[in-house]
Amino acid sequence: MTTPPTGPLQDQVVIVTGAGSGIGRASALAFARAGAHVLAVGRRAEALRHSAAQHRGIAVLPADITAIGAAQAVIDAATQRWGRVDVLVNNAGATAVMPLADTTAQRISDLFALNVTAPSLLARAALPHLRAGRGAIVNVSSTYGHRPLPGAAHYAASKAALEQLTRSWALELAADGVRVNALAPGPTESEALSAAGLPDAVVEQIKQDESARIPLGRRGTPEEVAAWIVHLADPAAPWITGQVLTVDGGLELT
Ligand SMILES: NC(=O)c1ccc[n+]([C@@H]2O[C@H](COP(=O)([O-])OP(=O)(O)OC[C@H]3O[C@@H](n4cnc5c(N)ncnc54)[C@H](OP(=O)(O)O)[C@@H]3O)[C@@H](O)[C@H]2O)c1
Repeated sequence: MTTPPTGPLQDQVVIVTGAGSGIGRASALAFARAGAHVLAVGRRAEALRHSAAQHRGIAVLPADITAIGAAQAVIDAATQRWGRVDVLVNNAGATAVMPLADTTAQRISDLFALNVTAPSLLARAALPHLRAGRGAIVNVSSTYGHRPLPGAAHYAASKAALEQLTRSWALELAADGVRVNALAPGPTESEALSAAGLPDAVVEQIKQDESARIPLGRRGTPEEVAAWIVHLADPAAPWITGQVLTVDGGLELT
């Protein structure tokens, strides 16, 4: 446990999806350290509790954000607790190894339900509150939202969709003072590869290959990504909207 919040996001209300691990957990902690009240959302209650144990500013809501009615329930949980929503971080997402030859309608549908539809419905449900407080949305994309990824084309396509939603919503909501940006991480230490169902040996090989391809010579840490998510959401960055910020050790340049 840490001391009461004092920081640049003092008393802001922030929702972080996928906050039970990886980039989401690091983001929840970074927002709480910046003074925000954070609602940490994910399916695994135990994982969320582990996140919340790291700072008193983090409250948890176990929920599957792809379930019917989940988006409104998430926003309601925040407003019932704190009376407002200032920032929505659409971080929950999944990767899927899916060569074209193995592609099925169900797998495409499941991937887009999590990576595209759920963030959209959360943003819609949050909108009245974001408008009221001139708040911000940060969507978590990927380097592969804007470069090709053979063998995982639909993952790349789902993140490309999220980047276009970011730009379009930024224009749509600019007159309301609501900023919308995306953070595009490169390969970052998290549970993402094992959550995709890959065997440990394959995960290790992918990590080694990625580190070798990244100009700065290593994968990123969730904390390095989270710091930029907080910057994009910070009210002290009032003149940035519609941008996709890539944080990937230079991978995008190769
Ligand atoms: N790590 C990377 O290399 C990398 C690179 C580029 C982009 N990204 C993106 O970064 C974001 C965070 O991923 P990560 O790397 O931190 O991986 P992660 O550790 O696997 O985190 C994903 C989180 O999403 C949650 N989640 C999954 N399905 C959900 C659902 N239906 N409802 C609610 N929560 C759900 C998971 O928690 P539960 O299982 O408990 O629900 C998990 O905490 C994702 O959007 C990912 O695509 C990651």
